Amino acid sequence: MSKTKKTDVLIVGGGPAGYPCAIRAAQLGLKVILVDKSGLGGTCLNRGCIPSKAVIHAASRFEEISTHASVPAMGISCAKPKVDMKALTGWKDELVGKLTSGVAMLLKSAGAEVLNGWAEFSDAKTCTVTLQDGDTVQISAKNVVLATGSTEVELPFLPFDDPHVISSTGALELEKLPKTLAVIGAGYIGLELGIAFAKLGVKVSFIEALDRILPLYDTAMTRPISRWLKTHGVDMHLSSRARGLTRSGIAFEDKKGETQELAAEKILVAVGRKPVTQGWGLENMAIDMAGAFVKVDDQCATSMRGVYAIGDLIGEPMLAHKGTAQGEMVAEILAGHRCRFDPVAIPAVCFTEPEIVGVGLTPDEAKDAGEAVITGKFPLAALGKALSMQGGTDGGFVRVTARKGDHVILGIHAVGKHVAELSGEFALALEMGARLEDIAGTIHVHPTLSEGFAESALVALGQPLHIKA
Ligand code: NAI
Repeated sequence: MSKTKKTDVLIVGGGPAGYPCAIRAAQLGLKVILVDKSGLGGTCLNRGCIPSKAVIHAASRFEEISTHASVPAMGISCAKPKVDMKALTGWKDELVGKLTSGVAMLLKSAGAEVLNGWAEFSDAKTCTVTLQDGDTVQISAKNVVLATGSTEVELPFLPFDDPHVISSTGALELEKLPKTLAVIGAGYIGLELGIAFAKLGVKVSFIEALDRILPLYDTAMTRPISRWLKTHGVDMHLSSRARGLTRSGIAFEDKKGETQELAAEKILVAVGRKPVTQGWGLENMAIDMAGAFVKVDDQCATSMRGVYAIGDLIGEPMLAHKGTAQGEMVAEILAGHRCRFDPVAIPAVCFTEPEIVGVGLTPDEAKDAGEAVITGKFPLAALGKALSMQGGTDGGFVRVTARKGDHVILGIHAVGKHVAELSGEFALALEMGARLEDIAGTIHVHPTLSEGFAESALVALGQPLHIKA
């Protein structure tokens, strides 16, 4: 029999946008119901950020050991390692299980109620949740937060139900390594996973429609990754378009417009993600859209009073930490606090080899925005810590972009081994309105990669210490 529940806040979607919203709203004293069908933590914890980072870490470990096995280095030699994909996937699943049960515990201790089921709205504030056991619950909410996330874009001629075609979700569940892998799309997902599989010994080839990889970053930033791909035997087919399956792999149109065939045991399609807007009654809520996404204002409020939307559902950048920040903010608003979503910058990291970090404007973007800028670029090859970790030889650097007139920092970009961990200091510098002198004048621990940031500020000020002026 169907029950009816009334709540202050109904949150649909328990990913990195929805669950922090639920925790914070419950902590702030609101009655909260969170509905999710496919596991707390959403794409990020179950099928995205965390499992991919676990696979990337394991692949890097395997590659390092393999390197020592073929050419002893640092006085370390060993026998040729083997990879057991079933065990690797099992280790990754264990990690995911720990984190998702941690989220469940946090929600419970904050006092938020979780319903494991599928919500479907009949109007903006009323929905029916079909639970796992088939029972239904009617929910009537004062406020609704939509956090349904995004899903992989499928190419009609490469359907995910074909046994040779995989999405990023399928790639993270492989229990046997293919000998050959074709990756369609050299964006965030394609490169992160394609590089991991290349490290695991798979012969990887990319088919990318544009004439370059990772178009969000300038070529100075992507050059070290292109170099890694080249030196590790990864084939890049740029300005090329996937066309369809063949008996042994995939057909594509190359940059000359000619049809080529590529043998591939598996084909990973990573051509973008789209918001999840179907199947839960969005059409019954009278909410305005902005293209494929739900339209919101700077408080994440939709066009319907009391209905908010956060995370991937409202557009780019589709990043977990953006969704989390929006989720926390909406909870504060619902508790009566005044806030709006107005970050100086949303940091982004691509976990390629080497890693890329971008916060704020690149020099070209700053110039396009009418700014006169100065830049400082410090090579990681001049940094003891980078070299001691076998980094620095891949062409990596930290680059700061500042306004010429007052030296306020407008953007910070880095590429190199382990630079992802610098993203916090970069984001903080931008949010705090730091000038070059603030960064150059802050004592950075020696020896750490963070010295590269202080040195880049010194370069921009014309006073480098560890490279020639
Ligand atoms: P993406 O937009 O980054 O890259 C897709 C690529 O596929 C583009 O370069 C595009 O030119 C290419 N493409 C599209 N159609 C094609 C075709 N028919 N043939 C060949 N190439 C084609 O999308 P991706 O990698 O799927 O990632 C989706 C989202 O997930 C990103 O927007 C990102 O924000 C998020 N993400 C973030 C990560 C992180 O923060 N480290 C990691 C992974 C994903």
